[in-house]
Amino acid sequence: MPTKKLPEKKPEKRIEKKTEKKTEKKIPKKTRWKPGNVVLPAPAALVSCAGADGSTNIITIAWCGNINSVPPMLFISVRPERHSHKMIVETGEFVVNLPGKKIARAVDYCGVTSGRDVDKWAECKLSPFAMENVSCPAVAEAPLNIGCKVARRIPLGSHDMFLATVEEVAVDAALVDAKGKFLLEKANMLCFAHGGDYALGEQKGFFGWSIQKKTKAKPGKR
Ligand SMILES: Cc1cc2nc3c(=O)[nH]c(=O)nc-3n(C[C@H](O)[C@H](O)[C@H](O)COP(=O)(O)O)c2cc1C
Repeated sequence: MPTKKLPEKKPEKRIEKKTEKKTEKKIPKKTRWKPGNVVLPAPAALVSCAGADGSTNIITIAWCGNINSVPPMLFISVRPERHSHKMIVETGEFVVNLPGKKIARAVDYCGVTSGRDVDKWAECKLSPFAMENVSCPAVAEAPLNIGCKVARRIPLGSHDMFLATVEEVAVDAALVDAKGKFLLEKANMLCFAHGGDYALGEQKGFFGWSIQKKTKAKPGKR
């Protein structure tokens, strides 16, 4: 009697291949840096401020970020030797102006010159814009202006951290769509990373996209 050929055990082979692939995954080789500030990119913010004598100034700040949602709060960290530091301590107010790439030169200039020596508004052709809830002016040419009041100053070492409440937000109307969404791709917002200034690029997703269920496209709809 001829011997019956047994079927090949295909599934087992496939499992073997899968595990083989897993062990092949390469871990990136790392190099070591000394501890430093590398949570980047950071905003390249133009922070406007006013002194007790009514004078105003602009300082470029990268150490800046959100810290609380209700009430909305943010921080900026400023070295005590900056001219702006004294002004912020005096009045307890400042405006975080988030710039687009159109005013990239001003962002650098306000970060390498001091209000002690130059009028940065005039040198950069920037216009003061009156806010409603803080008396210090905003930078009109920046698409987003965030008026803040200092809640606490925390000396940390090289920098003093100002924790502040957000008192108002002004946005360029031309950069807001009919649904009230900020048109980031049109604004070309600037950020700072590893010594360079960059404009925000390609959008890779949106809030929650990684868990969104796939829906079948209906005919006639994109
Ligand atoms: C991109 C960039 C980011 C900066 N970030 C900070 C910062 O977070 N904190 C700070 O104290 N100085 C920062 N500086 C330096 C100040 O902007 C700079 O010393 C400025 O000349 C101070 O101006 P003032 O003396 O008119 O206040 C930054 C400079 C640049 C160019």
